[in-house]
Amino acid sequence: MEYLTTQGLRMPRLGLGTYRMQGDVCRAAVESALALGYRHVDTAEMYGNEDAIGPAIAASGVAREDLFVTTKVWNENLAPDAMRRAFDSSLKKLGLDQVDLYLVHWPAPNMNLKSMFETLMKLKEEGRTRAIGVANFNIALLKTVIEEIKAPIACNQIEYHVLLDQTPIRKYMASKSLPLVAYCPVAQGRAASNETLIAIGKKHNASGAQVALRWLLDQDGVAAIPKASRRESQQANLDALNIKLDDADRKAIAALPKDQRFVKPGFSPVWD
Ligand SMILES: NC(=O)c1ccc[n+]([C@@H]2O[C@H](COP(=O)([O-])OP(=O)(O)OC[C@H]3O[C@@H](n4cnc5c(N)ncnc54)[C@H](OP(=O)(O)O)[C@@H]3O)[C@@H](O)[C@H]2O)c1
Repeated sequence: MEYLTTQGLRMPRLGLGTYRMQGDVCRAAVESALALGYRHVDTAEMYGNEDAIGPAIAASGVAREDLFVTTKVWNENLAPDAMRRAFDSSLKKLGLDQVDLYLVHWPAPNMNLKSMFETLMKLKEEGRTRAIGVANFNIALLKTVIEEIKAPIACNQIEYHVLLDQTPIRKYMASKSLPLVAYCPVAQGRAASNETLIAIGKKHNASGAQVALRWLLDQDGVAAIPKASRRESQQANLDALNIKLDDADRKAIAALPKDQRFVKPGFSPVWD
C-alpha cells in the first residue's frame, strides 16, 4: 500500500468508498475489502451505512491502529450541538472510540465557519478524531479555513478523475500542502468503458478503471476512494497500484474531455 502523510496521520492512498451501499451488502463489501488488504474506509452519516461498517470492522480482526476510518458530518448538522450529536451517533454506529478523520461533508449556505471549526477542534483535542478536514470546499472557502481560521485540516475531499479538470484548486491545495482525496475516482464506473482508457489498459494488461486510478495516484498529495461492491473490482483497484503509465498514456489522458462533474447536490459552492 502507498501512504501519504498529513497532519501527523499516515493515510493509505487507496481507500474503499461506501456511498450507496447499506446493510448486509455494505457489511459484506467492507469485510471483503479488509480481507483483501484495504486499510482505509470512507463513510458518512449521510450514507446511512456506519451501522454496517462498524460490525464489518469488528469482524475483520484488523488491528484498530492499522485502520484508517473517515466519516463526515452532513451540512444540516454544522451547528455545535448538532455536530456533537452527529459525531456521537457516528462513533457509536461505527463501534469505535475514535475516528481517524472527521470531515465537513458539504458546505451549507450561511454556515458559521468559525464555530464549526471550534467544535471540530474540540473533538480533535478530546482525542475522539485524530484529524479534521473538509469535503467539497472551493478555493475561497479553503482560504478562509486555512489562512484566517488557521484550522489544521488534513484534506479536502473533492470530485476528481480523468474526466474532470481540477487544476486551480489542486494548485492552491499543493501550495498549502493539503492533500486531495479524490471521490468518484473511476468516474462512477465510466472509466471502465472509456475507449481511450481501455486502449491504454491493453498495453499494461489492465482495465480502463485501473488506468484511471493509477493516473490519480501518480499525482503527489492525491488519495482515491473508489467504491466497489464486487470483490473482483476491489482486487482490481488494489492491483492498479502496480501499473506504470508512460508519457504517451499521460498525453492521451490529458486529451480526454475534462468538464464532466457527476456530483451536484442542492447547494453547490462556486467552483473556481
Ligand atoms: N464527499 C462527497 O461529497 C462525496 C461524493 C461522492 C462520493 N464520495 C465518496 O467517494 C466514493 C467513490 O465515489 P463514487 O462511489 O461516487 O464513484 P466511483 O468510485 O468513481 O465509482 C463507483 C462505481 O464504479 C464501479 N467500479 C469500481 N471499481 C471498478 C473497477 N475496477 N472496474 C469496473 N467498475 C468499477 C463500482 O461498481 P461496483 O460497486 O458494482 O463494484 C461503482 O458502480 C463514494 O463511495 C464515497 O465514499 C464522497
